[in-house]
This record gives sequence, C-alpha cells and structure tokens, in this order.
Amino acid sequence: MKILAIETSCDETAVSVVEAEGDLTAPKFKVLAHQISSQVKIHAPFGGVVPSLAKREHAKNLVPILIVALTDAKLLETGETKIDPTLITEILEREEGLAKQVLNELVKIKTPNIDAVAVTVGPGLEPALWVGINLAKVLSIIWNKPLIPTNHLEGHIISPLLDGKIIEVPAVALIASGGHTELVLVKKLGEYEKIGQTRDDAAGEAFDKVARLLGLPYPGGPNLSKLASVFVEVKPPLGGLTSTSSKWKLPRPMLNSPDYNFSFSGLKTAVLYKIKNFEQENNRELNEDEKASLAYEFEQAVVEVLVKKTLKAVKEFNTQAVIIGGGVIANTRLRETIKKELTEKYPAVTLHLPPLELATDNATMIAMAGYLRYLKNEFIAPDNILSTNISANGNLNF
Ligand code: KG4
Ligand code: ZN
Repeated sequence: MKILAIETSCDETAVSVVEAEGDLTAPKFKVLAHQISSQVKIHAPFGGVVPSLAKREHAKNLVPILIVALTDAKLLETGETKIDPTLITEILEREEGLAKQVLNELVKIKTPNIDAVAVTVGPGLEPALWVGINLAKVLSIIWNKPLIPTNHLEGHIISPLLDGKIIEVPAVALIASGGHTELVLVKKLGEYEKIGQTRDDAAGEAFDKVARLLGLPYPGGPNLSKLASVFVEVKPPLGGLTSTSSKWKLPRPMLNSPDYNFSFSGLKTAVLYKIKNFEQENNRELNEDEKASLAYEFEQAVVEVLVKKTLKAVKEFNTQAVIIGGGVIANTRLRETIKKELTEKYPAVTLHLPPLELATDNATMIAMAGYLRYLKNEFIAPDNILSTNISANGNLNF
C-alpha cells in the first residue's frame, strides 16, 4: 500500500510517500517521496523553536510541500476534486491561510493513488502538531482515505528499517532527540515498553543549551559537535590541547545508577560553572581551542552515559539488536562509540542506525510507523473522521 505521511511536530514541515508491504515481523518500505522544509533560519534569531512561528510556517508551507511530494511520487494528476468549502474552512479555522490554499490548489488535482494518510499526533509542540493533524483530516475526507494517527517516537524507532532490514527482537531502542531521551524495549515491532527516560533535559536539549553557553548559533547540537571535532583533529604535540581538556573534567550524570534513567541538566550547569570559573581565574574569555576542548569533553560525557545505559539494557534484557533514533544520532561520536562498544562487548548483537537524512525529523519515518499502526487496525475510516476525537498530544508516549 502507499501511505502519504505528514509530520509537523516541531520545526520541520515534512511530507513523504512510502510504499509498504509485508506483515509486522518483516515490513518492507520503499520511499517514493521525501520532502522536508526546515524552519531553522526562522527560529535561529530566537535561539530555539518558537511554537507560534512554527505553527504559522507549517500552515504556510504544507500544501506546497504536499504538491512537490506528490509530484516526486508521480502521483500528481491535474483534474478535479470535489471539496465542500464550508467544511474545509471549519476544520482549518485556526490554520491561517491553509484553508485558502486547500481550496485554491487541491481542487485542481485528482485524488492521488494512495491508500492512507498518516500524521504525527504527538509528542511535540501542540500548536505545530495541530496544523498537520487538521490538514490530514481534510485530505482523508476529500480523498476518501483512512487516517492513521501516528506516534513520532515510534517513527524514530522504526527509522532504520528501510531497504528490507529486519529488526531482531527483543531489541532495545534509544531515542535521543531535542525533546526526548528514552530507552525503550522493543518486544516486537509495534509492541514497546519504556524502561527509562531523562528526568530533566533531553540529550539534544543539553547539546543545544551548552552550545549557547559556548556562543554557538542555533541549532546548537550540530555546531557543538563540529567544534568538538576540531579538538579531535588537532592532537598534541601540534595542538597541545590535552592540558586544557583535562581541566574540563565534567561529571557523567547517573552513569552507574541502577535504572535506565538519564539526567542532563546538571551537566549543562557544570559547563556553565567551568566557564565562569575559568573567566574569573584568567580574567578573559575562553579562546577557540579551549572552547573546542570543552565541547569535546561535554560530548564525551553525554555519549558515555547514553552508550553505557544502552549496553546495560542489552545485557539485562538479552536483546538481539540495538536501535538508535532521533536527531542526536546524527552525532558522529555517538555513532562511532556505540558501534565500537557493541562490536567489542556484544558482537552477536546487531546495530541499527538510521541513515542521516532519517535521523532528524522527517515524514518517511511517520509513514513507516503509520504502516505498523495500520497493520494493527489502528486507523480511522474517512466517514468517521468528523465524529472521532483526533487530537494533538504533546506528551504522547508508549
Ligand atoms: O529528532 P530531532 O530532529 O527533533 C526532535 O524530535 O527533537 O532532534 C533534534 C535534536 C536537536 O536538539 C539537535 O541539536 C540534535 O538533535 N542534534 C545533534 C546533532 N544533530 C542534531 N546533537 C548532537 N550532535 C549532532 N550532530
Ligand atoms: Zn524527533
């Protein structure tokens, strides 16, 4: 079946079309369209995502991106779709300008040859989620297709499963993103149990906050790891940076706690005090080398904790595979460390990492997760859209 998916949980507006087949033990996916419009530039001046701006941008960009995605998937055919303007205006009442775009643009195309519409209903920023949900409702009604409400986190877990890959179960999944840091036991695909989570900041959030302390622009995570990589490359005796890195010794929060929880806000505070103390003692700001070595030590601390807790779950639950999803897996050191540690300590356990373009938010993973929900009969028939409560849930979990 072909699934069209919409993702608007944070600051990426994304639409994908994915062809899916197979059952829950061996689903297979082929990407027909994968469109993402990032709002990074719009939020950058504010140092983080502004929900009202995210909502406005999603409303502005969704229909154009949808049309490009349908074109990519070779599913766009000009023609006519019957639309009841009153109903559309009512559903899209709060999405500024979106009803107009639907009425102007979508009337001009034929119902595409898809089998369902999947949409992220949570977790995420509720004002942003609502835009995607309301458009998905509209599409489901005007095209007469079932609607699949989808969990963003399940998307991150299933994101490595392209190219006919099969996940050996039980598996442990680490989700490390800007909003979440969780360890999830995957009993089988579609069946999950959360075993631990962060008590405060998410790993990506910590990257973003520490990046700000180091004066790096938003988005902090990728910029911080770029700065840290400068340190790795300039090794002594040429760079002579070891002396600065050793004085940045940062804590590894909850590294040896008996549970699967995390805590990253203390680590951020520790970085803040390292910088303050340094400035007081030396009467100057950190230079670039010193910043790079501090970034390196911070990255090391986060990666060590994430990897150790994941391996602890591998051991305790005797898992056959490790899955890592979420924006932070774009981090090279995390990717390399988990690979190395697994090969050394549990060579029989398979590691599944998403390709980089599926690590951060996208709609392809939502189509894939939507397929699993569809197989479990968790979808809404088009006739029931208006009578069913389909809501954004900012805190949705497993
Ligand atoms: O999954 P994602 O795109 O959005 C959420 O659902 O939150 O994750 C975004 C997060 C941000 O906090 C970003 O700083 C972080 O992932 N991130 C990184 C890297 N690339 C993105 N963190 C560390 N190193 C990276 N290379
Ligand atoms: Zn995400």
